[in-house]
Amino acid sequence: MSEPTPGVSQQPGPSGHVPESPPLERWRLTFPFHWDADELVSRRELLYFTVYASVTMFSTTFLLAILGALRKAEAGPVVAIARMSEIPEGGAHYFDYPGPEDQAVLLHLPGGRFVAYSLRCTHLSCAVYFQPDRQSLICPCHHGVFEPETGDPIAGPPRRRLEQIALRQEGDVLYAVAISP
Ligand code: FES
Repeated sequence: MSEPTPGVSQQPGPSGHVPESPPLERWRLTFPFHWDADELVSRRELLYFTVYASVTMFSTTFLLAILGALRKAEAGPVVAIARMSEIPEGGAHYFDYPGPEDQAVLLHLPGGRFVAYSLRCTHLSCAVYFQPDRQSLICPCHHGVFEPETGDPIAGPPRRRLEQIALRQEGDVLYAVAISP
């Protein structure tokens, strides 16, 4: 025997007695939508949401990638670092750049070239230091190692090179003039 449909008036029986409709369940009163329509609206809304979310995420990622690629060296303050003649070949000189909280290092590479890097590790921002006997830049937090010639990561979890500090030479003095990723 089929159940009476809620909300549909019942026909009188042979005795003229109209059977009473069962009371609507509480959840049907709270959500008075037809099952089929409810399902269609939900699926459509979910589809719209998924498409909008995907387009938004794709656009944001694309924009960030373009901005990252276009990012050039940020001109910073011009800061005198050290006299070149005071740093022996294979040696290092620590300084702060571009701000007083930003540790950096100037390296006198074997062969005579000078390079400078930020000492903030590109993994999780621990402080990197120069180890002269290994001629490597070491991050003690997770054993990250960077190559002193280029600042590129060569071991451990870091995937990006150290930030490079642009140098300018005036006589015997080296100045830091900009920092770039
Ligand atoms: S923070 Fe430098 S290796 Fe993890």
